[in-house]
Amino acid sequence: MAGRGRMVPCACLGLFGVLCWVWVSFASFPDDQLPLEALDAVDRAAFQPQSALSEMEFSSISSYRGPGNRDRRINKELPILLWWSGGLFPHFPGDSERIDCATSSCLVTSNRKVQMYKRTASIIFYGTDFRAYEAPLPRLRHQTWALFHEESPMNNYFLSHGPGIRLFNYTATFRRESDYPLTLQWLPSLDYLLQPVAVPLGEKNRLRREGLAPVLYMQSHCDVPSDRNRYVQELMKYIQVDSYGKCLNNKPLPENLEDTATATGEESSFMNFVARYKFHLALENGLCPDYMTEKLWRPLHQGCVPVYRGSSSVADWMPNDHSVIIIDHFPSPKSLAEFLKRLDENDDEYARYLEFKKPSRITNTRLLEALETREWGVNDMSKPNYLNGFECYVCDKENARLAAERTYRKAPNKNQPPKPKMANNSHMGCPLPGPGYGHVTDLPADDGWLQIWPQDYWQSLDQAEGLESLIRHNESDPSLLWKHIQNMAVSRARGKH
Ligand SMILES: *[C@@H]1O[C@H](CO)[C@@H](O)[C@H](O)[C@H]1NC(C)=O
Ligand SMILES: *[C@@H]1O[C@H](CO)[C@@H](O)[C@H](O)[C@H]1NC(C)=O
Ligand SMILES: *[C@@H]1O[C@H](CO)[C@@H](O)[C@H](O)[C@H]1NC(C)=O
Repeated sequence: MAGRGRMVPCACLGLFGVLCWVWVSFASFPDDQLPLEALDAVDRAAFQPQSALSEMEFSSISSYRGPGNRDRRINKELPILLWWSGGLFPHFPGDSERIDCATSSCLVTSNRKVQMYKRTASIIFYGTDFRAYEAPLPRLRHQTWALFHEESPMNNYFLSHGPGIRLFNYTATFRRESDYPLTLQWLPSLDYLLQPVAVPLGEKNRLRREGLAPVLYMQSHCDVPSDRNRYVQELMKYIQVDSYGKCLNNKPLPENLEDTATATGEESSFMNFVARYKFHLALENGLCPDYMTEKLWRPLHQGCVPVYRGSSSVADWMPNDHSVIIIDHFPSPKSLAEFLKRLDENDDEYARYLEFKKPSRITNTRLLEALETREWGVNDMSKPNYLNGFECYVCDKENARLAAERTYRKAPNKNQPPKPKMANNSHMGCPLPGPGYGHVTDLPADDGWLQIWPQDYWQSLDQAEGLESLIRHNESDPSLLWKHIQNMAVSRARGKH
């Protein structure tokens, strides 16, 4: 898939942080190696020929046992959570670990041999890597699926369709409606927003007189579903934009910066370079409610004004109601350009956008509360990262569900069975990509964007329906996906669907 390969470095950066955290927590606790546990007979019974867990090593980091956790079961009695995307398994060394969470404990592993075990209560997937034709089938009735997807909607539109997302029982996504929301994952802290303006307005005006453009564009990932280039290209007709990335490039990057231009990191010479601009074009690669990245938070941090398109509900998370310029509030690139030019010439009006640098002017209680109450940290060694946070969320939920099922089985007349729990479109539900500027019907048939993204979106729907069909038919071979998709197309053509 075009573009997906290029997401990997970002994922790796994030992972690096995670690994650092895990390493630190690992280093700071005694490595009390647990004895190897053999599987109990029940686990071995159903599908698998051999005991897999007996070969696994259990190194334990009892790092986040909550005060409410009175779970004293030994490892072989604990439910298992399987990380299907092994690359993301947030523990090392080894591929298995006991986790002690807020209210209960689980065994987590990335060893797929446990897929069919009765004791395997949940499978955790990484959204970017999830492929319908590789899904673990047959889907066992007693197992839940958990989805972790903090990355761009463009990485997997499968998850944006009802039939796709409903296959998951628990989610951690950028949407506030998800079970374990990661909405502010790119905002490290309130202090990050409150950092003083990096380049004072007087200096910015001086640079303007020397010919620096008012607006910065810095993007090297050009073929993306939000089709941002098409908008920026039109905008450039009406206002001066300095573009240093590979997309719509009109200026060379200074040599010392070349390596950092595409990095998401915050290397200081790069930061100083971009901070000189009054406005930063901040257009996400994919559009979805609550999908916001460093493109938005970094200019706020530096005291530049973001000119933003991405999450349609971005205003809900801004420090106050006058700190970001929202592209979709303007009828055309031309009217946006005129607005930016007026601000460029009016220091008082421009400065109003930076008033949030005074703590008293951060008035958005939703933002303040979300930062205050989230349990995970960003580059914060004193808090768990969200991968470990989410697996603990799943662990506690699964133990509660298993306990409720036991209670129900003991006395079905007196108790209710636990209610099924599944995700829905509000946990992801990103819209069909549209052109960045103009109407889709006006695009020539050979338009590059048109040939990729709308198709990718609808093919993902086919795959979601195909996988749902595989599961409904209790198939055990996920490569039958294509056959099921074809059958669905045929019955649709016959008017049966
Ligand atoms: C998990 O989701 C599946 C598919 O949507 C559903 O059939 C099942 O009942 C759910 N399981 C639980 C325990 O809620
Ligand atoms: C979708 O899920 C959320 C909880 O995650 C729930 O509040 C909402 O009612 C659900 N919507 C529909 C249409 O079922
Ligand atoms: C689904 O298939 C598995 C083996 O592939 C089988 O053991 C199980 O009984 C089947 N379940 C149903 C409900 O047919």
